[in-house]
Amino acid sequence: MDNLNFNKIAAGVLCGGLLLMAGIKAGEILLPHQDIEENAYPFEVAEAGDGQSAPAIPEDTGPEPILAMLASADIDAGQALSKKCTACHSFDAGGPNKVGPNLYNIVNRGIGGVDGFKYSTALSEFGGNWDYEQLNGFLYKPKSWVNGTKMNYAGLKKPNDRANIIAWMRTLSADPAQLP
Ligand code: HEC
Repeated sequence: MDNLNFNKIAAGVLCGGLLLMAGIKAGEILLPHQDIEENAYPFEVAEAGDGQSAPAIPEDTGPEPILAMLASADIDAGQALSKKCTACHSFDAGGPNKVGPNLYNIVNRGIGGVDGFKYSTALSEFGGNWDYEQLNGFLYKPKSWVNGTKMNYAGLKKPNDRANIIAWMRTLSADPAQLP
């Protein structure tokens, strides 16, 4: 190997090395993995901690109170809504128990109070009366309000709907309960 060839090879090796180093450096500049990972974590924690910018996970906020809505509720709309119940309930005086008990005169009636209907233990041991607040809570989400109830119904999520149907059920009585 003469000197010229040696120089060419040496220059080539040197160039290759420089290119490699330049490539690594460029990679560090373009993709600073370490930096992103280290900074991102505390940033997220700080955000969640201040409770303001964390993404809103939809929470169960109900049942919203409906007492104030009862006096001006839409009784006809309530009656229309009762179609969601009639697969399982009758509403007329002396009507039969179906999958669920008859609901005539339900406002202020004893919880689990229909003789001859086989209630779940959860409901028959619940105690108290179906006042407006109990009805509002139960109809919002039956299985949460009375844990263990056998009423298989998801519930009425809109406060308006609950106010309307409760106002209608109130009229199903020879002596309707007082409005709040
Ligand atoms: C799939 C059938 C089904 C549907 C639909 C249903 N219910 Fe019920 N409901 C039941 C059953 C069963 C019970 C008895 C629950 C228990 O014993 O735990 C019950 C119980 C009740 C009670 C308590 C009665 C008492 O005597 O203590 C009320 C109030 C009630 N339902 C209202 C409604 C209303 C209002 C609707 C419509 C918005 C409705 N239910 C829809 C099956 C149903």
